[in-house]
Amino acid sequence: MSALEQSPNMTARRPWSDAWRSALQGLYASERLYRWSLSNPLTRRITRRRTRQLFDLMAGFVHSQVLLACVRLDLLNHLRAQPQRPAELAQRCGVPEDALQRLLLSAVSLGLIEHRSGGRLGLGPLGVPLTTHPGIAQMVEHNQLLYQDLSDPLAFLRQGGASLPRTAGEGAGPTHMAAYWPYAHGGLQAVQAPGAAEQVDRYSELMGQSQGFVVQEILQHYFFDEHRCVLDVGAGQGRFVSALARHAPHLQLQMFDLPPVLAQAGERMAREGLQARVQLHPGSFLDDPLPTGADLVTLVRVLHDHSDEVVRLLLRKAHDALPPGGALLVAEPMAQTPGTAASDQADAYYHFYLMAMGAGRLRTPQTIAELMREAGFAAVEQVPNAMPIHGQLVLGRKCLPSKSAKTVN
Ligand SMILES: C[S@@+](CC[C@H](N)C(=O)[O-])C[C@H]1O[C@@H](n2cnc3c(N)ncnc32)[C@H](O)[C@@H]1O
Repeated sequence: MSALEQSPNMTARRPWSDAWRSALQGLYASERLYRWSLSNPLTRRITRRRTRQLFDLMAGFVHSQVLLACVRLDLLNHLRAQPQRPAELAQRCGVPEDALQRLLLSAVSLGLIEHRSGGRLGLGPLGVPLTTHPGIAQMVEHNQLLYQDLSDPLAFLRQGGASLPRTAGEGAGPTHMAAYWPYAHGGLQAVQAPGAAEQVDRYSELMGQSQGFVVQEILQHYFFDEHRCVLDVGAGQGRFVSALARHAPHLQLQMFDLPPVLAQAGERMAREGLQARVQLHPGSFLDDPLPTGADLVTLVRVLHDHSDEVVRLLLRKAHDALPPGGALLVAEPMAQTPGTAASDQADAYYHFYLMAMGAGRLRTPQTIAELMREAGFAAVEQVPNAMPIHGQLVLGRKCLPSKSAKTVN
């Protein structure tokens, strides 16, 4: 595991690095160098890759609409069953063959589907996961709300991200994203509001479907052997808890979430025969203390939904609920540390997603570590994991009384 230092600030680069970057900027702008780089087999690959990346940035909207069309037509599931000809697919999808051809060729170019023998098409490497993980298709559909909010990015940003201007003179209204799950920031009162039950159902279902990837990261990279009882806070429908129950049969488990969410989780636990090992604790972490008894508290995709103020409150409650020596594990998508490679991060998506939701924010592992230290946790460290794009892991400990004063500093 790697210890987490204080958060490096955005300007922490060394002056020589600035000079080097300014020089690079000049080189990138040089038309002559561009032409030379294409004539040289060694540099051609780099220049092509950069050009490709820039083109993809420009074309991103079209790519996501191709994906959406494939999802809405259920094309990928049809092709999973067996490769098919465009004419068969056009008939099945109710789309004119010429138009569908263009969609299919676009999807081929994006790796979603691929050519097979006899003029047929089959699933491509990027199409397969969409057929095996239904949560991805649900997120593709869900993202349409976000993209509506972002259709005028400057109007969105000028409203601070949480609301959108309405038609002239009518002020601002909530973003589509914020309207989709208004209950989540409001605690108990909000879930009792009219219409909240339906919002709770659809949101919890979506979260449950999309949680699989981060659950895998946790189970593969964190060892639960030392723990006896785990409390999952903001547990949702309980996908993590039920996977953990199977993964570590020695554990007792507790779940904490808003009452209607936990009612659904309870049904799941009953279906899976886990009632004896899982205690349900309905409540709001804004209003109630967290239950005691666990020696590990987990927060999976919870902190990023909330302001620093709520995060501080929640982390203090987690600290209070743990015995000395107990641990807190935070698992969620985190921002890239300034100065590190951007290749395996998804910061742009999460920054805008959370801004449109209206409350939370994407934090670096260092910022989460600082907030955990403020709440009293010590020995805060990052648990390295294979797929940071799905979420990163930060672990902290509640000190044994005799050591606490020394270790926190
Ligand atoms: C983004 S979801 C994450 C759910 C689950 N951990 C996952 O990764 O799929 C956030 C969870 O926090 C819960 N939550 C939000 N506000 C809460 C509050 N005040 N008290 C308890 N749970 C809350 C929501 O109901 C939801 O289940």
